[in-house]
Amino acid sequence: MNQKKIVVAITGASGSIYGVRLARALTSLPVRVFLAVSPSGRQVMAYETGYESGSFEMFLRESGVIFHKGAKIDEIQPDDFSALIASGSFRHDGMVIAPCSMNTLAAIANGITGNIIHRAADVCLKERRPLVLLPRETPFSLIHLKNMVRAAEAGAVIMPPSPGFYTRPATIDDLVDGIVARILDHLGFAHDLSPRWEG
Ligand SMILES: Cc1cc2nc3c(=O)[nH]c(=O)nc-3n(C[C@H](O)[C@H](O)[C@H](O)COP(=O)(O)O)c2cc1C
Repeated sequence: MNQKKIVVAITGASGSIYGVRLARALTSLPVRVFLAVSPSGRQVMAYETGYESGSFEMFLRESGVIFHKGAKIDEIQPDDFSALIASGSFRHDGMVIAPCSMNTLAAIANGITGNIIHRAADVCLKERRPLVLLPRETPFSLIHLKNMVRAAEAGAVIMPPSPGFYTRPATIDDLVDGIVARILDHLGFAHDLSPRWEG
């Protein structure tokens, strides 16, 4: 089995459901997910999803997710700089920060590595690995926009979670999965998570 390795980070912007639905989609595939949630990410996720503490894998399983037999989640503490994903010598297939707060965006755009999420993103940029950011704020200040440009110039894909409506999404999950589908496309996964435009 060809198990891919993907880093998923959830930070303290609104929209933790994007990270949760992404983790859900990845664990239905033969993927080893390295999951890091910032302290603010955990706080916002508690407001938005009700998940506060305990194993994230159990949270997914209890919400009905059926794991692929080749799927695994490694949960990483935000201050654990000895985690595998802190090193460029550890090879993986890409990182997604969903959602990405303006704080985390600023850290990445300026090479500041205050936690394992910033460090792992910094490693992706230096190693030229896929790094997908879902920055969430509204409106954006000039500082936010400039930080997005800096991150994009360094190689990140800036994918604001602004869903399309042409597929006529009926539920919030449909809307979110439209974005998760684009993330999976960028990481090179085959999927049928969301309808595609067929002309
Ligand atoms: C309910 C709630 C919603 C928030 N929404 C956003 C947001 O959409 N975008 C953002 O950049 N920050 C938002 N914040 C603020 C961040 O959580 C805060 O800036 C934090 O320092 C981010 O830290 P992190 O980047 O380590 O996760 C929100 C905070 C709370 C409590």
